[in-house]
Amino acid sequence: MYRMESSYLKKIIEGIPKAELHLHIEGSFEPELMFEIANRNNISLEYDSIEAVRKAYKFNNLQEFLDIYYAGAQVLIHERDFYDLTWAYLSKVHSQNVVHVEVFFDPQTHTDRGIEFEVVISGIYKALEKAKDELNISYKLIMSYLRHLSEAAAFETLEASVPFKHWIDGVGLDSSELGNPPSKFTKVFTASAEQGYQLVAHAGEEGPVEYIWQALDLLKVVRIDHGNRCLDDEALVQRLCEQHIPLTLCPLSNVALKVIQKMEDHPLLKMLDKGILATIHSDDPAYFGGYMNENYYETAKALNLTKAQLMQLAINAFEASWLDPIAKEQRISEVKDYFNS
Ligand code: HPA
Ligand code: ZN
Repeated sequence: MYRMESSYLKKIIEGIPKAELHLHIEGSFEPELMFEIANRNNISLEYDSIEAVRKAYKFNNLQEFLDIYYAGAQVLIHERDFYDLTWAYLSKVHSQNVVHVEVFFDPQTHTDRGIEFEVVISGIYKALEKAKDELNISYKLIMSYLRHLSEAAAFETLEASVPFKHWIDGVGLDSSELGNPPSKFTKVFTASAEQGYQLVAHAGEEGPVEYIWQALDLLKVVRIDHGNRCLDDEALVQRLCEQHIPLTLCPLSNVALKVIQKMEDHPLLKMLDKGILATIHSDDPAYFGGYMNENYYETAKALNLTKAQLMQLAINAFEASWLDPIAKEQRISEVKDYFNS
């Protein structure tokens, strides 16, 4: 079968107007910036060089990654730190032609260390606003509850968020999946919806297909983050298709955390073939070896994706986004124009 030349494929991917819907801002913390912020905050890191940090980024599962990811976030203290972190991410994805982002942040990772909710969200919000004005990047902000903590702790976070709810579009559920099913958070998701927040949850990354059902039926989410395991259950596949429930897939993350053994095993193509609204994102790009373009490229190469499939993936991401219908249609036409020119 005809395969696209690597350089040609890269060029196509670079030019696609893209939407990123599954990105943990703390997971975009590059070691260079981590050292800079640690130095100015007089915090010493466990590692003595940037290379040593990068060398430590080898994981056998989600938990091994999370331990390092939470440790890295400890150097973030002041509003400026959260601003710099967010601005660095937005500048980077701007260079990759990402035009819309829906960004997760983990308030509890910071409030549990005594950092005020307001400090965290103000830094992130100001960088997002600047990117909207100066880089023409539209955005939504999603506050994620840590599922290894209690539902009571999630309720405290919900309460802390209320004064800032005009800045927050949705809530999510992340961190250690196994042993922390969505059912643990049913009440706080109901209460979050009552505050006007949209709902998403990580499910079926390492956890079983049952967790995806729970996210849909108990938490009432509008999108599933990851959802890799859905192909284990034909009735679930049917549900995802009929109700147009998007999956936000993160292929480089899946390889890095050994959710799959190699990229060639990624279920993305099977999902597209079944009509699932599958989309591609970077999850924690500083830790998993790539931002949006690298995720598209490695997936396209391993699965031998066609131009039509790349176009479908780019359209799916805008379709799955929380942009208003007019902006959505506008972005989708831009993708079509790009591929048809
Ligand atoms: N899964 C769960 N929690 C996370 C992830 C992830 O991939 N990244 C950051 N927090
Ligand atoms: Zn994630």
